[in-house]
Amino acid sequence: MVDLVVTSKEIIDRILTLELVRVTERAAVAAARLRGCGDEKAADQAAVDAMRRELQRLPIDGTVVIGEGERDAAPMLYIGERLGTLKGPQVDIAVDPLEGTTLCARDMPGSIAVMAMATGGSLLHAPDVYMEKIAIGPGYPQGVVDLDKTPEENIRALAKAKGVKPSEIAVLVLDRPRHQAIIDDCRRVGAALRIIPDGDIAGVIFTTRPEETGIDLYLGIGGAPEGVLAAAALRCVGGQMQGRLILDTLEKIERAAKMGVSDPRRKYDMKELAAGDVIVSLTGVTDGALLGGVKFGKKVIRTETLIYRSVTGTVRKIAAEHREMGKFKLE
Ligand code: FBP
Repeated sequence: MVDLVVTSKEIIDRILTLELVRVTERAAVAAARLRGCGDEKAADQAAVDAMRRELQRLPIDGTVVIGEGERDAAPMLYIGERLGTLKGPQVDIAVDPLEGTTLCARDMPGSIAVMAMATGGSLLHAPDVYMEKIAIGPGYPQGVVDLDKTPEENIRALAKAKGVKPSEIAVLVLDRPRHQAIIDDCRRVGAALRIIPDGDIAGVIFTTRPEETGIDLYLGIGGAPEGVLAAAALRCVGGQMQGRLILDTLEKIERAAKMGVSDPRRKYDMKELAAGDVIVSLTGVTDGALLGGVKFGKKVIRTETLIYRSVTGTVRKIAAEHREMGKFKLE
């Protein structure tokens, strides 16, 4: 039996790794039961309930820093909620129980259940606003791309560093009117552009496995909380990411200030978004480029999960089969 009287570092280091897989598996299965139901809220709620139930079982004193919203707006997994048995080490928890709610509700590719856990105080407390983001995977010189350069400059620099032509760089962008200038710039330089309807946590994480996903560069504006979760995964494999909050009203500036953001125009690098030791787990809900979705078989449910650990840079892909045996129920 595992002795759970260990340091915070050891917990983050190894012991909880498989536990986090269980957490995202359960959330993914719960959401998958509502795939194609046309009801984003119901699918999200199912994932939230399942994820919270599993988190409550963990031997941690966890605090949600990225969650479903402020306490008054979200009854579960709200920012500041304490989770776990409260007897273990203090850890930060970032969750997106169902990333790509619309994708799931329409049974389209790319929805995932995702969470990160980090040593206490090490994840950016990002307000629920937009964030400009740029991300690339591992193996490139530091600073080869930069949020303050144009898409064309970044694509050319990345192509040079990779030793290929700009037309052989694949860029991923969310399909939003706000991205038209980025799209035009990418097309001008001849990059291969993949435009997805939703899901920029997975979109950023695509850059960590270009050999599977085909994506070299993520560009564009998505949710800030999603940016922190994605940065945590990127950190584990030595990718690069920068993000800048979009605080374009006084109300947003004040809200961010309350969460500790003193410079509204600050360009955060990956380690400022997600510092400390982190573990990130993501399970496919619907099929996607990174992960297969949940498959309901005859008395067996199959899931696929990626789990990233920053301490060793290990990435495990776990294909699991879940069966209902005896009293065990896969809720
Ligand atoms: P949900 O899972 O909350 O539906 O978010 C999907 C998503 O595509 C995120 O991946 C992304 O960060 C955000 O929406 C972009 O926001 P918007 O849809 O407002 O452009």
